[in-house]
Amino acid sequence: MCGIIAVTGSDDTVEVLLDGLAMLEYRGYDSAGVALVAGGPVPSVWRARAANGTRSLEDLAKAVESAPPGARSGIGHTRWATHGRPTETNAHPHVDCTGRIALVHNGIIENHTELSAALEDAGHVLESETDTEVLAHLIEDELATDRTAGLVVAVRRALARVRGAFALAVVDTADPDLVVAARRVSPLVIGRLGEAVLLASDIPALLARTRDFFVLDDDQVAELRPGSIVVTTLDGAPVPLVARTVDWDLDAARKDGYEDFMSKEMHQQPAAVADTLRDRVLPDGRLALDEMRLSDDELRAVDKVFIVACGSSYHAGLAAKYAIEHWARLPVEIDIASEFRYRDPVLDAHTLVIGVSQSGETVDTLQALREARRWNAKVLVISNVVDSSMAREADAVLYTRAGPEIGVAATKTHLAQMTALVVLALYLAQLRGTLYPEETVQLLAAMGELPAKVAVALDRGGDVAAVARSVAASPSFIFIGRHVGYPVALEGALKLKELSYLRAEGFPAGELKHGPIALVEPGTVVIGIATRTRLWEKMMANVAEVRSRGATVVLVANDGDEETARQADAVLWVPPTGPLFAPIVDVVPLQQLAYTLARFHGLDVDRPRNLAKVVTVE
Ligand code: M6R
Repeated sequence: MCGIIAVTGSDDTVEVLLDGLAMLEYRGYDSAGVALVAGGPVPSVWRARAANGTRSLEDLAKAVESAPPGARSGIGHTRWATHGRPTETNAHPHVDCTGRIALVHNGIIENHTELSAALEDAGHVLESETDTEVLAHLIEDELATDRTAGLVVAVRRALARVRGAFALAVVDTADPDLVVAARRVSPLVIGRLGEAVLLASDIPALLARTRDFFVLDDDQVAELRPGSIVVTTLDGAPVPLVARTVDWDLDAARKDGYEDFMSKEMHQQPAAVADTLRDRVLPDGRLALDEMRLSDDELRAVDKVFIVACGSSYHAGLAAKYAIEHWARLPVEIDIASEFRYRDPVLDAHTLVIGVSQSGETVDTLQALREARRWNAKVLVISNVVDSSMAREADAVLYTRAGPEIGVAATKTHLAQMTALVVLALYLAQLRGTLYPEETVQLLAAMGELPAKVAVALDRGGDVAAVARSVAASPSFIFIGRHVGYPVALEGALKLKELSYLRAEGFPAGELKHGPIALVEPGTVVIGIATRTRLWEKMMANVAEVRSRGATVVLVANDGDEETARQADAVLWVPPTGPLFAPIVDVVPLQQLAYTLARFHGLDVDRPRNLAKVVTVE
């Protein structure tokens, strides 16, 4: 995720900004920049992008050595690209046409396309591909329209014109000591150190300098000057300041008070799903995938889909196979990427090959996609990293917006992938006319409820811990599911084995009788996905088979489903959702189960043994 730092009233403006950016580095970034206001007519702005493994902060620090002394205020930013590629031009800070103001922003301005068009019609020149730059020009507009308005008023008025999420910091050469900040959804904290007033998107950026913070709430604006912090609402009403002291160390602060990154990232899942959905459903209910470089006609001509991926990304792809086949009526084959190019797949120009990879760098998937291109197939990539190798080589990219994932086990990126894939499946259905409009409306409504349902599932962590305790002594686990429950079973087993090093296997429940049931003996722990999806009755018959052989049965079941609960020794409850969306919710307690069992065994959940976050060797 992007990071913000800002300061006024410090003798060491440059040092505060660069130190703060370095503290935000752990979040991941692809470019960085600072702007300094020293009393001249325009701010000094430097930007640098990370390329081929270099750290843009080092380049930035070298560039800023040439800064004129005496900066009175400054802002800095680390960018994790979402709208617009990770280039130097797209890096923040962004400036207005006159060069009077500079700003940094976290979040997404949802109506940036219409705002850019209106601004360009009015004569503004926008230089970047970002959604952020419109903010600089909107503020410029407000300052020009009412010359008596200062920056705070102009920021308020500009924000009244935007939809979406924002945390921003703005500096103004006409008022060199002033930093204006505002937030909606994306966090901001203010700190004080003597006369210096500091601002950051999260506490670690300031922790080396202060432990006393003021947290800005949604729809508030802060006017920061040396020795002075004034907070108001977006409507101008005063807000009393409430100080908060943290006693975290830096490591705890980076984890936002969570024990580890995995736990933090699991709790970011509702936001990852919501952000991945954001902007993609138009107000009239149609779907828009703006990163698609394939035309609708090219997509309509597709007669077969292949999905290639590894690990958790493969499981997301497997869940998507059911959705694409059912909604869009297209045949889908799915391959483990490392097998795909060695099996001589039959592809042509009417084949769509979807590569799913959070990193966009996994070599097996990258090579599989290269093989697909060799056969002139169309290549579409679902990736969490803008401009990753796969994204650069693809015909089209649909980005997940989960933010950087630091824990080796995929959690929030996995949910974001499944979200992007159902959006894609619905888009293909829309193009091919395979769903009635009223069906699409119902599905979109159900899709919109997913972030809240994921949040409800996450809140049940305490119940999951009790279930984990009841099965903690077991050395091995069998996961079973049918239909879309099958990929969930595979993912549950993968999470458990990679985090806890216990034997865990996932099977399609209907396949048990063909061999795996030989493993079941009294006390064997069998975890079944028994939410009310299409094959629930058949799934329950499979559950009966293992129960009658003495298995200890744990079932993932929909809230209030006592009929299912009666067949289980323990239940992991989740809210019900549309059948093809169910994996997005149903997998959550299995992530928590794996996490909890690994913690019981005293293992490092963020860095499981033998595993790497990005696998770049075949
Ligand atoms: O970056 P990718 O999505 O291509 O990575 C694929 C797998 O390596 C990854 O999902 C792996 O299985 C994770 N450790 C699962 O938690």
